[in-house]
Order: sequence, then C-alpha cells, then structure tokens
Amino acid sequence: MSETYTVTIEPLEREVECGADQAILDACLRAGVWLPHACTHGTCGTCKLQVLEGEVEHNDASDFALMEFERNEGKTLVCVATPSSDVVIEADVDVEEGVVYHSVNDYRGTLVTLEDIARDTRRLVIDLDGEMAFNPGQYVTIEVPGKGATRTYSIASPPSEAKRIELQVRRTPGGLATDGWIFSTLREGDVLMLSGPYGRFFLREARTEPMILIGGGTGLAPLKSIVRHVLETGLEHRMYLYHGVRTKADLFDGEYFGQLEKQHPEQFSYRPVLSEEEWEGGTGFVTDAVDADFESCKWHTAYICGPPPMVEAAMKTLMKKRLFPKDIYREDFFDASDKATGGVRSPLLKR
Ligand SMILES: Cc1cc2nc3c(=O)[nH]c(=O)nc-3n(C[C@H](O)[C@H](O)[C@H](O)COP(=O)(O)OP(=O)(O)OC[C@H]3O[C@@H](n4cnc5c(N)ncnc54)[C@H](O)[C@@H]3O)c2cc1C
Ligand code: FES
Repeated sequence: MSETYTVTIEPLEREVECGADQAILDACLRAGVWLPHACTHGTCGTCKLQVLEGEVEHNDASDFALMEFERNEGKTLVCVATPSSDVVIEADVDVEEGVVYHSVNDYRGTLVTLEDIARDTRRLVIDLDGEMAFNPGQYVTIEVPGKGATRTYSIASPPSEAKRIELQVRRTPGGLATDGWIFSTLREGDVLMLSGPYGRFFLREARTEPMILIGGGTGLAPLKSIVRHVLETGLEHRMYLYHGVRTKADLFDGEYFGQLEKQHPEQFSYRPVLSEEEWEGGTGFVTDAVDADFESCKWHTAYICGPPPMVEAAMKTLMKKRLFPKDIYREDFFDASDKATGGVRSPLLKR
C-alpha cells in the first residue's frame, strides 16, 4: 500500500487520509466530504482550490483549466492533484438547501445489455455488485480495461434502480474508450470496474419552478434519469424536455418519451429536434425550438447537458430569455480534445 497523507479541509475543519497516488477530491468524496467538481478529469476548473500548506502534484491538470500563474499562486485542481506531504486546502463550500450528497464507492459491474439504439449510440445496462445511492443527473467513471484510463458516463436510470444502471454512450471516432472498446471489443457478460456517483449536475428537488431540460445527443442520459425520478416519486415539477440531434438516425428513446408525454400530459412534454433533416417534428437547432416556445424563461430552472458548444449556445438562449445563471445547471461532456485545447472556455461556466 502506498504512503498516505492527511488532507485538512478548511474552514470545514475536516481531516481526510489520502494516498500519495490518490486524487485529493477522490479521497474527500469517499470520506463523505463534498467538494465542488464537474468533469473529474482536470478539464473544467470547477474543483480549483487554494493549497494553504504543504505540497501537491498537479499531475494531469489541463494548462487551460489551471494556468501557470495560478499554479504559482498555490492553486490546484483537486480532481487530479495528489498530495506529496500533509496538506491544508481551503474550500469555501456552499451548502445547498435540501441536497443530500452521496459518498463515492467502487463497484464491480456486469454488463447485462449492450444494444445499438441509434447511429453510433449504444445503451449499456450494468448490474452492480452493491447499491449505489445517487442523485438523478450524476455520473460514474469507468476504467478502460488495460489502458490505465477512466472515462465518465452519466447515469440514465433513476436512483430507485440502485443496483442496475443504464448508460447511453456515443462513439467518438478514434476515441480510446468508445471506438477502442465500447464499440469494438465490449460484450454482454463482461465485467466493468466503475466508481460513483460524481458531479454537481443533478435535480434540485427543493426548487419547484417548471424545468426546461435540454439535451444534445447522449446529453439526454442524465435528463432521462431526472424525468423518470420526478414522475415515479410523485414530484410535481412541470418538465419540458428538448432533445437535439442531427438526423432521425441519431434519435433514441423517442417512443419512450412519447409514451410518457401521453401518460402525463399536464406535467411532461417532449420535443425532439433535428438540425440536419426535415421531418414531421421540430427542425433546426434545439436552441431555436426553445427560443420559439418560450416568450420568457423567467421563473423556470433549466438543466442543459451535452457537447460544450451546444451547452454554451443553450445557456446564451436561456439568458436572453431572462433566466439567470443561478437558475441554470449545466453538464459539459468534455473529452480529451477539450482537455488538450481548452475547448469552449466559457465565461459563463460556473466555477
Ligand atoms: C461529466 C461527463 C459526463 C459524460 N457523460 C457522457 C455520457 O453519458 N455519454 C457519452 O456518450 N459521453 C459522455 N461523456 C463524454 C465521455 O466521458 C468521453 O469523453 C467520450 O466518450 C469520449 O471518450 P473516448 O475515450 O472514446 O475518446 P478520447 O480518447 O477521450 O478522445 C476524444 C477525442 O479527443 C481526441 N484526442 C485525444 N487525445 C487528444 C489530445 N491529446 N489532443 C487533442 N485531441 C485529442 C480524440 O481523437 C477524439 O476525437 C461525458 C463527459 C463528462 C465530462
Ligand atoms: S472537476 Fe476538476 S477540473 Fe473539472
């Protein structure tokens, strides 16, 4: 077993043991100490904290998310930073009313279903060896076998299904996890090593405003979890779900959401939008559909998820429609190229 160090989190006055090769965020989340984070791969900057005492290794932090001058000022990205001594970090954590944070654990999963649900898109259903408590909208990280790398995927199933989770994965050409594994060698019955739950993109139950849910591609996954959770637990949030994809061949779960709309016409509406094909449904960018449907988005909350440029565009549309950033929750599906290039460095990104 590798050496361990003590990480003290101020002003919470909490102490956590952290392995020399363990990310500080990981140690904290496993010990039940919640720290803000989003991508968990050193890309977004959400987990940036001040090191008050001691030394850390910045490891794989993106140069765009943690700049040279910030490193010199003693800042670090705790999702990738490991301790090289006992350290004290400063974390000003806002505690949100009504939010329960669940500790991160490791799971051994068995893939029970692997199916193509749209072009370059697969559904994975995984049986876990223990129950995972999570908030609808959160994600898991999965080890890519033999590559010493992990990738993150949002949970599409609701928390009520604590031992069987659904993921929806889009193929990235040349991608290590997708092209190199999930869309090539992965088979039903295979064992997957995963951990979770992670992320701050989840349903705020205490907020009772009508919700605008906007998903691009597999950005639908966490929204599916939220919609299912709201409907099956009898919450009364009004939900407007938008799903943007390029063509009909890229659409999935349309029939499922169409049925839900029929069953809950007063509470749930579903609007698939195609950007590159004319059809009987909505055509154009998903943001155009929201723009056309809402004169004002004031007094709503919004949940946006998908590729960073789409999330950014949706954010701008909603703000133009008078929704404040504090009312908008976003999950950017950053990947390795965003990490290398900085991706969309949004001034609107919640830090
Ligand atoms: C919070 C979160 C939740 C997510 N949830 C989902 C989900 O539910 N479903 C889903 O489909 N995806 C999701 N993603 C995206 C997912 O985690 C992966 O990023 C995606 O599947 C690609 O992984 P990959 O290993 O196949 O590709 P990667 O190997 O990571 O490559 C991605 C792209 O980057 C390029 N690239 C690789 N290395 C470099 C480099 N050094 N410089 C420049 N370019 C490079 C590759 O050529 C490729 O085009 C989520 C991401 C985040 C952050
Ligand atoms: S959560 Fe650490 S950089 Fe995104």
